[in-house]
Amino acid sequence: MYIYQDEILMTKKLENLTYNWKGKSVLDLGCNAGKLWEISKSAGASRYLGVDISKDMIKVGKERYEDAEFVEGDVNVVIDRSPDYDVTVAMALFHHFTSRKLRGVIRRLKSKELIFEVPVGSNDVGLYQLRDEKWYRDLIVELYGKVQAVVKSGATNDPYNPRVIFVCKRND
Ligand SMILES: C[S@@+](CC[C@H](N)C(=O)[O-])C[C@H]1O[C@@H](n2cnc3c(N)ncnc32)[C@H](O)[C@@H]1O
Repeated sequence: MYIYQDEILMTKKLENLTYNWKGKSVLDLGCNAGKLWEISKSAGASRYLGVDISKDMIKVGKERYEDAEFVEGDVNVVIDRSPDYDVTVAMALFHHFTSRKLRGVIRRLKSKELIFEVPVGSNDVGLYQLRDEKWYRDLIVELYGKVQAVVKSGATNDPYNPRVIFVCKRND
């Protein structure tokens, strides 16, 4: 079985991100095998809920991390049922959503912070929804809050467009 996170390492992805996980409850959208729990827990995170549409990935996550919670389902549906977490994380997910679906998800986030990784650029090879950095910035300002930082992702699996990580804070 192919497990994305065994190939594309989360530690590498996050190498340029400075974020204080201490005491934070983490909602991980498109969590895959739940690796973010291992990383955020070792940096002090208190709680973790991983959501993924893949039954197989949820099974792997539960086997690997008994002290985390996992829910199988489409983010678009589960988001309304999830309790209030401190930070929502969505790595390598939003570019698979149509603009309409993404807007619906962002609107319904309850957390005060949002971290997400997406490709940005102009080399559209038809593999995903390609938007530029300004498009995502405008989306966040319109529907969520402010963009505090944008850093280069350490992911190495996209030969077509650079990937960046947005760190966002909800307007009070
Ligand atoms: C490219 S992988 C990224 C995994 C992980 N976030 C990371 O960066 O290491 C995308 C993950 O999102 C999941 N996924 C895709 N569409 C989804 C949806 N609508 N709701 C929940 N999970 C979804 C896939 O099953 C897959 O595990």
